[in-house]
Amino acid sequence: MIVKKNVSSIEQYLKQRRVNLRKKIAFIPTMGALHEGHLSLIKLAKDKGRYVIVSIYVNPSQFAPNEDFSKYPRTLKSDLEKLRKISVDLVFTPVTKDISEYTHQKYSFKTFGLEKKLCGKFRPNHYLGVSEIVLKFLSIINPDFAYFGEKDYQQYIFIERIVKQTILKTKIIMGKTIRNKDGLALSSRNKYLSEKEKNIAKYIYKYLKQSRLLIKKGQLISTVLKKQEDDMLKLGFSKIEYLEVKDSNLRKSNLPHNKSRIFIAAKINNIRLIDNILI
Ligand code: PAJ
Repeated sequence: MIVKKNVSSIEQYLKQRRVNLRKKIAFIPTMGALHEGHLSLIKLAKDKGRYVIVSIYVNPSQFAPNEDFSKYPRTLKSDLEKLRKISVDLVFTPVTKDISEYTHQKYSFKTFGLEKKLCGKFRPNHYLGVSEIVLKFLSIINPDFAYFGEKDYQQYIFIERIVKQTILKTKIIMGKTIRNKDGLALSSRNKYLSEKEKNIAKYIYKYLKQSRLLIKKGQLISTVLKKQEDDMLKLGFSKIEYLEVKDSNLRKSNLPHNKSRIFIAAKINNIRLIDNILI
C-alpha cells in the first residue's frame, strides 16, 4: 500500500501508474476514524477488482466555526493499518496547506437547491465545503468510480448531481448503510456517545422502521412523524432538527412512493446524528 501526502507526488505517481494499469480506478473519500461503514465502500470496490484509492482528510471548510472540527477523531495510524489489511492500493493523506492551495479548472453546475435542504438548513455552508474538496480530489485522482454512503444520502445525491454536469468522467456510486447490532448507523461521531447515550441513539433506527411501517399501512405521514418526534424527545433526545419524508431528489413527499425516504437529524446532548431509510 502506497501512502502519498501531497498533491504533486500523488499526481506524479498516478501519471506513471496509469500507463499499464489494467484496472478501473475507484476512489473512496473519507475523513478517517475508519469503521465498517467506510470499509464496506472499499470492499464494494475491491470486489469489482478495481484499483482502490482512499483519502483521509478532515476537511475544515465543511465545518462551521461552532462545530466539532477540532475534536473530530483523528486516528491515522490505526486507519492506515485497517486499510493495509484489506489491501487498499493507494492512500492520500493531504495536509491542509497543500490541498487548499491546489486549484483546478472551474466547473460550472447547478445545485438545484439540494444543499439548502435537510442538513443544509442547519449547516448552511456544509455542502459547499464538501463539494469543494470532493471536486479537488476528483480532479487530482480522476477515478472511474467514487463511492459514497447511503447514510449521508443528501451528500451522495448532491455530489452525484454536480459531477454529472461537469466534464469529470467519474461515476458516483452509493453503498448501503452499515449499522451496529442495535441498528445504530455507524459514524465516526458515535465515538462521542457514552454507553447511556448509545442506548438512546439506537432508537433512531427503531423509530424510523416503526414510522415506515405505519406509513406503509396508510397512516398520514405528518401524523406519524409528529408522533415519532414526540416519542423521541420523551426518550431523551435533546432535539430533532428535522424529520421529513422526501423523494429521491429531496423533494417534499406527502405520499410514500417509490424511492422516498424518511430523513432524520437528531441530537443527544450536543451530539448530532443523522440517518435515513427507504420507505
Ligand atoms: P466521512 O464521514 O468520513 O464518510 C466517508 C464516506 O463513508 C461517506 O461517503 C459516508 O457516507 C460513508 N459512510 C459513513 N458512515 C457510513 C455507514 N454507516 N455506512 C455506509 N457508509 C458510511 O462524508 C465524509 O466523510 C466527508 O464529507 C467527505 C465526503 C470525505 C468529504 O470531506
